[in-house]
Amino acid sequence: MIFQSQKINLYQSCRFINHFDIYLHLLMKEENNNIYSVFDELLQRHDKEKLLNQKSKVIWMSGLSGSGKTTIAKYLERQLHDKGFLTQVLDGDNVRTGINNNLGFSEADRTENIRRIAEVSKLFLNCGIITINSFVSPTNEIRNQARNIIGEENFIEVFIDTPIEICENRDVKGLYAKARKGEIKNFTGIDAPFEVPDKANIVIKTADQTIEESGEILLKYILEKITYIENEQL
Ligand code: ADX
Repeated sequence: MIFQSQKINLYQSCRFINHFDIYLHLLMKEENNNIYSVFDELLQRHDKEKLLNQKSKVIWMSGLSGSGKTTIAKYLERQLHDKGFLTQVLDGDNVRTGINNNLGFSEADRTENIRRIAEVSKLFLNCGIITINSFVSPTNEIRNQARNIIGEENFIEVFIDTPIEICENRDVKGLYAKARKGEIKNFTGIDAPFEVPDKANIVIKTADQTIEESGEILLKYILEKITYIENEQL
């Protein structure tokens, strides 16, 4: 028998972790007179973090195309993996060719791109997994949208600060050259804006650094935020 006050507590817990489905499922079981401890069924994010021995976060890296975001993300992931952390990298390669393959680069499409990525990241977050996201995410509004979906306390914003001249010089994918010729429209930094992040937790200035140097600065910053501490006050 679940008392009204327990139902309210249960509802609040489920609301907090966004699991109305669990709430309804439990109430339905109650209607069918199934006697059991409700919390036997409720696995929380904390249980998964404990299992994985890590605190989950979303590391959100923004910056121009060619700034080094994905390269640093992959370096970071490798280092974290070697230290026993479970991570998932999300970037244009795995997201824009899959779940977001119907989106382009208009303002509305970029907003939708980031909204979906933020929602997916939240699922990983609640599963205890550290997500490393590498997206241009060109405006403060778009990044704030992601922050609001994911939650301020879970969100680590990293600005990969590489001057456009360097990105354009590298032009790994040949996209800057095409944008200059007008063959690609709305290209960030050429004919579409990139706003310097106003809330970055950490800025990585890659211009005079190797990938390892940039990666190590970020790794050091991230490590203390994802290290699991038994009995830590939540
Ligand atoms: S975002 O603006 O919506 O965050 P996202 O990070 O997913 O962009 O994708 C950016 C990548 O797509 C760039 O690194 C580049 O390789 C490619 N790209 C293709 N067209 C554009 C464009 N018009 N503007 C920016 N990047 C583009």
